[in-house]
Amino acid sequence: MTTDDPKAAASRRPSSEGSKETMGGPSLLSEAIQQRFAREVAKFPSDQKQSAVMACLAIVQQEFGHVSQDSELAVADYLGMAPIAVHEVTTFYNMYNQQPLGKYKLNVCTNLPCQLRDGEAALDHICSRLGVEEGGTTPDGLFTVQKSECLGACADAPVMLVNDRQMLSFMSNERLDELLTMLANTK
Ligand code: FES
Repeated sequence: MTTDDPKAAASRRPSSEGSKETMGGPSLLSEAIQQRFAREVAKFPSDQKQSAVMACLAIVQQEFGHVSQDSELAVADYLGMAPIAVHEVTTFYNMYNQQPLGKYKLNVCTNLPCQLRDGEAALDHICSRLGVEEGGTTPDGLFTVQKSECLGACADAPVMLVNDRQMLSFMSNERLDELLTMLANTK
């Protein structure tokens, strides 16, 4: 079974490098973050810099591990957007974490096509193995388990995402057990 390179996963964990830890408004954005924002904004016409909002939120999440309300305000200020418009983006997409999560974020699709092919059972199996409710994080901070909307691979159910990037298909209980063991051993 293949999944994220642990080093790559670790590299996506919250990092304070190159960022100010102060929270609240634009001061949250370090020079390094603003440089990254500027590169994203430059991809769009000068009067459409708001189009970079998703990329900027992704950068914030890479830096801090989640997108806080203060981060949303900072992004809104940088892009000249209404804070509510940024919040709508953050809350619409599953990939943005609105609070700190575990090292490994496991999203199992439970939409109807997957439900008909053991998607819900796969979610229940993971929760049972880890001793958490859906949406919960293990006490050691290693795993957060969430359900997700359609991942676009209905024929491969049960399907899941690891850390928003690695799609895994045909996740039988045996494959789920292998995955959890492998991830737990790559702390
Ligand atoms: S419904 Fe699960 S991938 Fe489409």
